[in-house]
Amino acid sequence: MHARHSLPTVVLHWTIAALIIGLLVLGYYMVGIPRNTPERAFYFNLHKSLGVLVAVLILARIVWRFYDTEPPLPGSMPKWEVHAAQWGHHALYLCMVLVPLTGYISSSFNKYGVKFFGIALPSWGWEDKPLRDLFAGMHYILAWAFAALILIHVLAALKHVLLNRDRIFQRMLPRL
Ligand code: HEM
Ligand code: HEM
Repeated sequence: MHARHSLPTVVLHWTIAALIIGLLVLGYYMVGIPRNTPERAFYFNLHKSLGVLVAVLILARIVWRFYDTEPPLPGSMPKWEVHAAQWGHHALYLCMVLVPLTGYISSSFNKYGVKFFGIALPSWGWEDKPLRDLFAGMHYILAWAFAALILIHVLAALKHVLLNRDRIFQRMLPRL
């Protein structure tokens, strides 16, 4: 029997992945909608709500990771690849924390704040355009870095399926 990730890890990985890819697409789409339109407000509020939802799931994922034991990587994997995977996963975790955080902080520095599906959440700031722009700029740069890392991560997963055929991909699937 091959080692696998635990069911909570698998469910959280794929739920979070789907939400993040959706949020990237939504983010790039919504910033192009003309200002002061109900459509823009709708998509911005949806982005913020889903962003807060994924942040909560990411927090659960991080807490769970401390309790869960990761299955060991196959001994056949070269050392450089083991290190690359570890660094890549840590960088993904860093983005999973910093991208929603900068989104929330930037939204706290404008008059709209953050609503979670209609419920107003605490604002961490005050109306301040330079600070809003600063954190929105960080959110923008980090979102691009995140997208690039995800692309590399997906290519690495595909390499394991198509070239190595070492069942690394299957480790992240539920046992059926
Ligand atoms: C993993 C979660 C998230 C991802 C992947 C993500 C991704 C993105 C992307 C790709 C953009 C477009 C950037 C641009 O072209 O300017 C964007 C914009 C934005 N995001 Fe997020 N976001 C996330 C979470 C959040 C959260 C939690 C909030 C706030 C509660 C938020 C608030 C915003 C706002 C207000 C903008 C527009 C910034 C502007 O007007 O310049 N995001 N996001
Ligand atoms: C879109 C956002 C994604 C994020 C943030 C992400 C993040 C991660 C992280 C941090 C890990 C390490 C294990 C863990 O701590 O849970 C991991 C493992 C994995 N991911 Fe993703 N992932 C994403 C999307 C994807 C996609 C689209 C695929 C498939 C094409 C994929 C395939 C895998 C596989 C196969 C593993 C297991 C590797 C192993 O067992 O060592 N991920 N992912």
